[in-house]
Order: sequence, then structure tokens, then C-alpha cells
Amino acid sequence: MNSGAEAVESALKLARKWGYEVKGVPGGRAEIVVCDGNFHGRTIAVVGFSSDPASRHNFGPFARGFLVVPYGDAAALERAIGPNTVAVLAEPIQGEAGVVIPPAGYLRRMRELCTASNVLMILDEIQTGLGRTGRLLAEEHEGVEADVTLVGKALGGGFYPVSAVLAPSAVMDVLRPGEHGSTFGGNPLACAVASASLRVLVEEGMIENAARVGARLLANLQAVAGPAVREVRGRGLMIAVELHATSAGRGPCASGCADAACSPRRRTSTPSASRRRWSSARGRRIGSPISSRRCCRVRHPASNG
Ligand SMILES: Cc1ncc(COP(=O)(O)O)c(C=O)c1O
Repeated sequence: MNSGAEAVESALKLARKWGYEVKGVPGGRAEIVVCDGNFHGRTIAVVGFSSDPASRHNFGPFARGFLVVPYGDAAALERAIGPNTVAVLAEPIQGEAGVVIPPAGYLRRMRELCTASNVLMILDEIQTGLGRTGRLLAEEHEGVEADVTLVGKALGGGFYPVSAVLAPSAVMDVLRPGEHGSTFGGNPLACAVASASLRVLVEEGMIENAARVGARLLANLQAVAGPAVREVRGRGLMIAVELHATSAGRGPCASGCADAACSPRRRTSTPSASRRRWSSARGRRIGSPISSRRCCRVRHPASNG
């Protein structure tokens, strides 16, 4: 496929079809559990279960069959899974929400619950995947394997749109010829780029490098964080600097205070300008639109956002 959102859509279709044809869910009753704070793209099914009002506003009506649970809350997930649940869809770390890392053990518990209830565990690794967190896939940090893993972004080496749905034949084979596809879905150039990107990631040690450099960057950012910073968190080279609410949207104060009443004139610059300077000084790209307005996220160029 071309975009990450297309990979997500494909996985949703796959899960529903698997639910009806393999699990035996009654027609039209399939449910998919998703997480509050999710970001899975901008297609209509996906924004329909977004918790970001700006993503949804005036785009309805939306598809039914999605249940939203708090991210990181295994007990809520357990309560939400019922006989008609076909899949749980989650990000191993929520990227657009501001690099939200779930409590340790959350993905392992999700794995157990999905296995016990014959539900597909779908992990959206479009942002976390392919080395960014210091492992090939972020799910490896918890030693779990999803039934369906979605990759995109870095799969195109930072310059070509390509995404993929990874699943075993037992799941994938519910899609038969003619039931799903797109004009450029299997385009040879994209496949060549994806193969080259994966080779470079492994052969040039980029995954280990993300772990090593990321740990250093995280420690250094934590060490220099001023009072305007609420938290610096991350894994590998997926890092966010979260500001206190009082500092957000105004740029850092020249005197380093986090006081809401501080004069805007004392604030040095807009956050995006300062982020850009900070970024270019270190040869890293820091994205412009961030959904979590209080967070600056550090990204590496191959990830395309
Ligand atoms: C976790 C996640 N899923 C899906 C997407 C959508 O990917 P695309 O923009 O390629 O459609 C994104 C994009 O940022 C993402 O971060």
C-alpha cells in the first residue's frame, strides 16, 4: 500500500472478515477496540474513532463498530472485549499524542487478553516501527508479537510512500483475489525502496544506533530540562519534550520560568522557530504539526514524521 492510513484501513477490513469467516461473529456485529488518544491516519473510518475533535469535526457520519478505551488501562481493555470483538488496535507508543508510553506490561497483557478471547491484536507500528525506538519493532520491548503489525513511514526510507500489513497466512488468506487492492498497492519501485530501506537499517546498524544515541539524547535532554519542561520521555530516537501547560504555545521564556503571567515579550520566539533552531543545530528533523500541543517530538529523517 502507499500510506499508513491505507495499511490501517486494510487491517480493519482484514480483522472484520477474519471475525466473520474464522471466528464466527454474527454478520454485521464485529467490534474493534481502539484506544483513546490514538492516531492512525486521516481516512474516514480512522478519524471516526479518533478522540481529537479537530480530526473529526464536520467529517461525519462515521463507521460503527469501534469501542474506545483509555490507553494503557489493561483492566478497561479486558472489560471492553466481548464475544463479538474481532480485534484490538493500538500503537505500542502513542506518537502523535506526544510519545505516550504505556505502563510496563500493558502490551503483554493485551497479548494475553487477545489470545484468551480469540481476538486479533493489531499493533500500528507505522511510527514506532523499523528501528525508531531502538528495536526493529517497538513490540519487541515487551517481547510480544502481534497478530497483525502495520508498518509505513520508515519503510520508504524517508522518501517514497509505501506501507504494509504483516500477518500470518491464517489471517491474511481470508482476503481472496479481487476482494481488496489498489492501483499502486504492489508497485515494484515501492517494493524495491522498501527492500533497500530494510537492508540499510540492518546493515548500517541504524537500529542499534537509535538505541544508543537515543539513550544519550534522552539523558542529556532530561539533564538540561528547565522549569518550563514537565517531562522528557521516550524510547530510542522517539522522544518528546512536554512543556507545562502554562508554557505551551508561547515559546520558551528567556528567563526560563514557566509562569503563565510571564510577559510574552520576555518569551524568546514561537515554539516552532525555536524547535527548528534546536533541531537544525543537531541535524535532526523536528516535525511541524504536533497533535499534542505541549510536546516537541524528536524525529529522525528516515521516518518521514
Ligand atoms: C501511528 C500512525 N499510524 C498511521 C499513520 C498514518 O500514516 P500516513 O500519514 O502515511 O497515512 C500515522 C502518521 O503519522 C501514524 O503515526
